[in-house]
Amino acid sequence: MTLVPPRITPPDRAPRGLAFLSTFVRNPLNVIPRAAYEEDFVHGGDGGVSRAWITSPALVKAVLLDERDKFRKLAQIRLLGPLLGKGLLTSEGAEWKWQRQTAAPMFRPAELMGYVPAFVKAAEGQLAAWRNGAPGAHPIDEDMTRLTFVIVCSTLLPTSDPKLANQIEESVRTFQQSGGWGLLFAALGVPNWVPRPGASSSRKTAITLRAAVGAMIRDRRDDGADNLMHRLMGARDPETGRAMDDEQLVDNLLTFYLAGHETTAKALTWTLFLLSRSPEWTAKLREEVDRVTQGARVGPEHIEKLVLVEQVVKEAMRLYPPVPMMSRQCVADVQLGEHAVKAGTSILMPIYTIHRHAKRWENPDAFDPTRFAPDREVPRYQYMPFGAGPRICIGMSFALIEATAILATLLQSVSFSPAPGNEPVPVARVTLIPDNGMPLQVVPRR
Ligand code: HEM
Repeated sequence: MTLVPPRITPPDRAPRGLAFLSTFVRNPLNVIPRAAYEEDFVHGGDGGVSRAWITSPALVKAVLLDERDKFRKLAQIRLLGPLLGKGLLTSEGAEWKWQRQTAAPMFRPAELMGYVPAFVKAAEGQLAAWRNGAPGAHPIDEDMTRLTFVIVCSTLLPTSDPKLANQIEESVRTFQQSGGWGLLFAALGVPNWVPRPGASSSRKTAITLRAAVGAMIRDRRDDGADNLMHRLMGARDPETGRAMDDEQLVDNLLTFYLAGHETTAKALTWTLFLLSRSPEWTAKLREEVDRVTQGARVGPEHIEKLVLVEQVVKEAMRLYPPVPMMSRQCVADVQLGEHAVKAGTSILMPIYTIHRHAKRWENPDAFDPTRFAPDREVPRYQYMPFGAGPRICIGMSFALIEATAILATLLQSVSFSPAPGNEPVPVARVTLIPDNGMPLQVVPRR
């Protein structure tokens, strides 16, 4: 039987004025008009704000690659800059380029396979916590967030110091809670000094967190380890020969702590949700995991053979992309296909909508992992959970290997079933969260 999991019902027309603001704050996905799921370019905006929804692969490619010099990441910088400064995610131009070149070697495939034992160990820790915990439904979204955080700390970055871990967890919660307003102000280009609900707690969180990471850097500077922090410390700007100062190190460490766990946590959360509704796919994955691993611990040699596991993760990220919306600000007049776009226009690329576009996907709302079978090619820019172009996610392969290793390890011991009465609705914050958490029953394998 085909599974059609919960989805957003788009409005026939985008709300305007105050209705736009109040709908956006509750869930930005609810302002995306039906036309964006059916057409390639939908012009919107009111009150002097010019906005365009772009959902065709050719136009997305123009924005992210061919014409990229005419676009900037202003909304993202406005939203995340107070916390992440000018780190890899929130810088542009030459400043971005050398940070990207510095971090890239940590993400080469050979390095990544070396992390598989750490992924598996962390997943086994989660299994033990479920085994020893109270019976009943478990908060899977929280569990996955903790699990992926432990992994970032044991692979790329120093410390899983519980105090820092709690502060980071708390900051993610604060940003998600005030997220609707933050996203709205960033999307409308409102400066950060204009008061908005949640701004003061977000500001306080940013200050505390930056101080804690700064202290950690001072403590660990000479500990002799070889991780991303030490490589960033050793890097020199090719143009100026300068090393990163402590501010820039804090920017980047926080970027990797946050970007490196919250997104993968959401990918896993929605994957486990879909499996809890699909005993058929749970059985197929188990059969594959048993065949490939022969009951042994998941290792680097198994990852490429876990083809169905990866297909399910990819289909989960199609239906529930962990980063549901990308945006750029047009800074020079530009022709996008047949559309003349004026400087000042906000370009919104709703990955959630691109992944369910009626022209490009058959039965777009149905859960069907066979779309990603090895013999079927999904065009780039039509499927883009990790973005695209030169600013594509640096952690893409890390996240895919991590999710595959974790899912396979979990399925060796347990399966997941629905918690009665919970039908989660996806809500866009910085990441795509389930509106009321994700309680699921964890069922030990017999
Ligand atoms: C399922 C997991 C993940 C998803 C869906 C995801 C998604 C994305 C997306 C959509 C972007 C592009 C943003 C834009 O261009 O506006 C991005 C950028 C980025 N991601 Fe990820 N990400 C994931 C995992 C990771 C991991 C594991 C790391 C690090 C370990 C990471 C670090 C970054 C960084 C540093 C950038 C900025 C890259 C640049 O601008 O050069 N992400 N990610």
